[in-house]
Amino acid sequence: MVDSMSKAMPHTVVSCWQPFLGLALVAVFVSSTLGCPSRCECSAQSKAVVCHRKRMPTIPDGIPTETRILDLSKNKLTMINPDDFIAFPGLEELDLSGNLISYVEPGAFNALFNMHSLSLKSNRIKLIPLGVFTALTNLTRLDISDNKIVILLDYMFQDLHNLKFLEVGDNDLVYISHRAFSGLLSLETLTLERCNLTVVPTEALSHLHSVVSLHLRYLSISTFHPYSFKKLFKLRHLEIDNWPSLDHVPANALHGLNLTTLFITNTNLSSFPYQALKHLYYLTHLNLSYNRIRHIEGGMLMELVRLQELHLVGAQLNVIELYAFQGLRNLKVLNVSHNHLDTLEKGVFQSPETLRVLLINNNPLVCDCRLMWILQKRQSLFLGDSQPECSNPESSRGQPFKEFKETLLSYYVTCTKPKIRENKTQTVTVDEGQQAMLRCSADGTPRPIVSWLSPRRRVLTNRNHGRVMVHNNGTLEIKSAEMQDSGVYLCLASNSAGNDTLMTSLAVKSLGSLYANRTQYYTDPNNATANGTTSVTLGLDLKTILVSTAMGCFTFLGVVLFCFLLLFVWSRGKGKHKNNIDVEYVPRSKSNGTNVDSDEGQAGPRRFNMKMM
Ligand SMILES: *[C@@H]1O[C@H](CO)[C@@H](O)[C@H](O)[C@H]1NC(C)=O
Ligand SMILES: *[C@@H]1O[C@H](CO)[C@@H](O)[C@H](O)[C@H]1NC(C)=O
Ligand SMILES: *[C@@H]1O[C@H](CO)[C@@H](O)[C@H](O)[C@H]1NC(C)=O
Ligand SMILES: *[C@@H]1O[C@H](CO)[C@@H](O)[C@H](O)[C@H]1NC(C)=O
Ligand SMILES: *[C@@H]1O[C@H](CO)[C@@H](O)[C@H](O)[C@H]1NC(C)=O
Ligand SMILES: *[C@@H]1O[C@H](CO)[C@@H](O)[C@H](O)[C@H]1NC(C)=O
Ligand SMILES: *[C@@H]1O[C@H](CO)[C@@H](O)[C@H](O)[C@H]1NC(C)=O
Ligand SMILES: *[C@@H]1O[C@H](CO)[C@@H](O)[C@H](O)[C@H]1NC(C)=O
Ligand SMILES: *[C@@H]1O[C@H](CO)[C@@H](O)[C@H](O)[C@H]1NC(C)=O
Ligand SMILES: *[C@@H]1O[C@H](CO)[C@@H](O)[C@H](O)[C@H]1NC(C)=O
Ligand SMILES: *[C@@H]1O[C@H](CO)[C@@H](O)[C@H](O)[C@H]1NC(C)=O
Ligand SMILES: *[C@@H]1O[C@H](CO)[C@@H](O)[C@H](O)[C@H]1NC(C)=O
Repeated sequence: MVDSMSKAMPHTVVSCWQPFLGLALVAVFVSSTLGCPSRCECSAQSKAVVCHRKRMPTIPDGIPTETRILDLSKNKLTMINPDDFIAFPGLEELDLSGNLISYVEPGAFNALFNMHSLSLKSNRIKLIPLGVFTALTNLTRLDISDNKIVILLDYMFQDLHNLKFLEVGDNDLVYISHRAFSGLLSLETLTLERCNLTVVPTEALSHLHSVVSLHLRYLSISTFHPYSFKKLFKLRHLEIDNWPSLDHVPANALHGLNLTTLFITNTNLSSFPYQALKHLYYLTHLNLSYNRIRHIEGGMLMELVRLQELHLVGAQLNVIELYAFQGLRNLKVLNVSHNHLDTLEKGVFQSPETLRVLLINNNPLVCDCRLMWILQKRQSLFLGDSQPECSNPESSRGQPFKEFKETLLSYYVTCTKPKIRENKTQTVTVDEGQQAMLRCSADGTPRPIVSWLSPRRRVLTNRNHGRVMVHNNGTLEIKSAEMQDSGVYLCLASNSAGNDTLMTSLAVKSLGSLYANRTQYYTDPNNATANGTTSVTLGLDLKTILVSTAMGCFTFLGVVLFCFLLLFVWSRGKGKHKNNIDVEYVPRSKSNGTNVDSDEGQAGPRRFNMKMM
């Protein structure tokens, strides 16, 4: 309002902002020869009448008919009646903000065909009935924010075909009718903020076919429904800010949108919404600042090929994995200041050379060889006004990046290869069912990452696989050791400077006498396909092999039948000299390579005897 007014009166108005009074405008006018309401200031040249902050309880008399700009802000008006403005058909801008208006009659702005801008901001309106805005077909700017409106009715903006900016924030809105925004064919910017909506008004928004920018701020919406935004074909800028209870953005929440700018800031989001962003191929600016995101995984943002700026400030980022920005060929600005990052490796980026601005100040950075690339690029890369500093190692703590001497970089900023503390080739022996702990602690800068290879050379990483897990200190734990866990394990400690290895052999001693010296299983504890089909390799006689084979396909009952059949054939083929047979039944295991009899909770195999009569 103020902007457009000062544009309209470039020669006669001296205006200045008074930050504490909001829209207060101090104007000095050339006195008018035409009529002017007492206590108001008028400009003949721009046909403006300014009656700002005059404690007027009603619209003053004496406003010239040809008035184009009328400012009645900060008075004591309480109501707007149908004929109040009928005498001023030339009115283009009307400011009624900051009054005590609680009701606006339908037809209040009738006949104001030339009106461009109307402000009803900061009043006490509870409901705007149908018909208030009829005929305002040339209106481009409408502000009804900071009122007490609870509901937006169907078709209330129906005639505002030319409206481009609509402010409806700071109300008590609890519901927006499905057709409330019907007719707003030109609306380009919509701000919905500080109201009591609990869901995104998907249906209502779907009428805004021209909207380019949508700002949804200070809302207590906690979840997105799938396809929350429909038919917003022109929407390019979406801002979701200050939704304190939003903790998740489902994969299809933003489907149907083609955005170039997306803000999801100041929410309770704790993970990067990879899936929800996947289809936003035209995204160039992404701002995820002030959330609780801890982690950016590698290779998850491949689709965002046009992304130029990523802002993730003031989150709780611990790790940006290698290859995190794989595919982001155009990334120019990365702003990750005020996080918990200890490093940012070159391998994170698809093309580190396109980067122009990198803000990583206020992170606990460890100045070792991983940050060398940034230090070497200090001249071409803008690191921000507040320089990043090292917080480790001890020798360079508190040192701003720009103070490193170029020639000494390779002396100070170094890494050391991992060195495993344990002696070469340990042997660990445990009893079956006991916990097995294989130790492997390594020194080095940066701190080495320890992984283990199973006897079958599968990688056991730092994730919980149930029975088998790798602790942060490098120790491999097998919760309840089984015979088939025996074998030689390889520990691999690696960091950016290199790697070190250690072999540890694990021997699991059997307890059950029936098992001993009979069968030995070699199942990889981490091989999920192996859990039901353990391979039997040693010490079996023909009977057992046949029966064991059958175990793979038959239930206990099936095996009994099978044995009858077997005996029958046998007795036919070999005469009567062998008429009884001993069968050992080892039920197949159920899960995770567990070899425990889970049908009846018994540990050993069952034995039964059959005789031919
Ligand atoms: C809208 O404004 C234009 C000038 O900006 C004017 O020519 C036109 O008549 C107005 N429309 C209506 C319906 O009055
Ligand atoms: C909207 O929320 C505010 C603050 O939570 C509350 O004071 C107000 O009563 C609510 N209004 C309605 C209509 O629910
Ligand atoms: C944010 O999430 C945390 C944990 O998920 C929860 O404890 C907290 O209450 C949430 N905050 C809000 C404002 O919903
Ligand atoms: C998506 O937006 C971009 C940039 O505004 C535009 O070039 C592209 O044609 C749009 N794609 C679709 C499918 O609308
Ligand atoms: C990102 O969002 C935050 C919070 O809304 C804002 O302060 C910041 O200026 C935004 N960054 C950019 C580059 O727009
Ligand atoms: C991040 O960096 C940019 C510099 O490009 C800056 O303008 C912005 O304010 C910073 N902060 C946030 C929260 O985006
Ligand atoms: C490593 O081996 C040496 C002898 O080879 C022994 O003295 C030392 O105690 C061993 N250390 C550990 C941790 O087992
Ligand atoms: C490694 O961590 C585990 C679990 O926290 C612990 O039980 C084990 O004693 C630790 N081992 C060593 C060598 O510190
Ligand atoms: C271990 O380091 C060597 C060179 O020191 C390298 O060739 C090899 O690829 C590394 N292995 C792993 C698994 O990182
Ligand atoms: C297993 O065989 C060894 C010799 O090969 C023998 O000393 C041991 O007693 C046997 N164990 C059982 C339980 O039969
Ligand atoms: C192995 O066990 C897991 C669960 O522990 C199960 O999901 C998987 O299907 C099993 N695999 C086979 C081949 O039985
Ligand atoms: C898993 O175990 C099965 C059966 O023992 C074997 O065929 C398969 O090759 C194993 N897979 C891997 C990846 O080791």
